[in-house]
Amino acid sequence: MVCLGNICRSPLAEGIMQHKLNQAGIAAHVDSAGLINYHSGELPDKRSIAVAAKYGIDLTAQRARSFTKDDIKNFDYIFAMDNNNYENLMEYANDATEAKRIHLILDYAGLGKKIVPDPYYGDQSDFEHVFSLLDDACQRILKKFAHAQSEVV
Ligand code: 4NP
Repeated sequence: MVCLGNICRSPLAEGIMQHKLNQAGIAAHVDSAGLINYHSGELPDKRSIAVAAKYGIDLTAQRARSFTKDDIKNFDYIFAMDNNNYENLMEYANDATEAKRIHLILDYAGLGKKIVPDPYYGDQSDFEHVFSLLDDACQRILKKFAHAQSEVV
């Protein structure tokens, strides 16, 4: 899960997806990172922590970090929150296989080529909106994975 600062959107995406995977009893490694290192080492934004806590998800073990060259090799799916994130991530792709791992999260979830808006300069209601978009997207992605899995079996 990747956004710009790794303090607002992607920590929420990581927390929500991990929570849903736990509930479904699916083991998978979920992580998040940012495309700037300005906030590295910081806790998620207080407003992200608050909205997640309201829905029973704890983000306080997370610390911001920057996206690295290894991430593109180590993760099967890389979800960008907006078009800028997507384009920046594409610069990390060394070949077509790596490029194929990168997706705009709402688009991959089947919600259209929409973005998860940056709530950093907004208020708590913007964080609520981000939560709701990501909750819907993660639910749909999980369903998509489960469906793909059942077709393989
Ligand atoms: P995020 O939000 O990308 O969702 O973590 C932002 C956090 C910090 C900044 C921008 C966006 N910033 O410019 O410091």
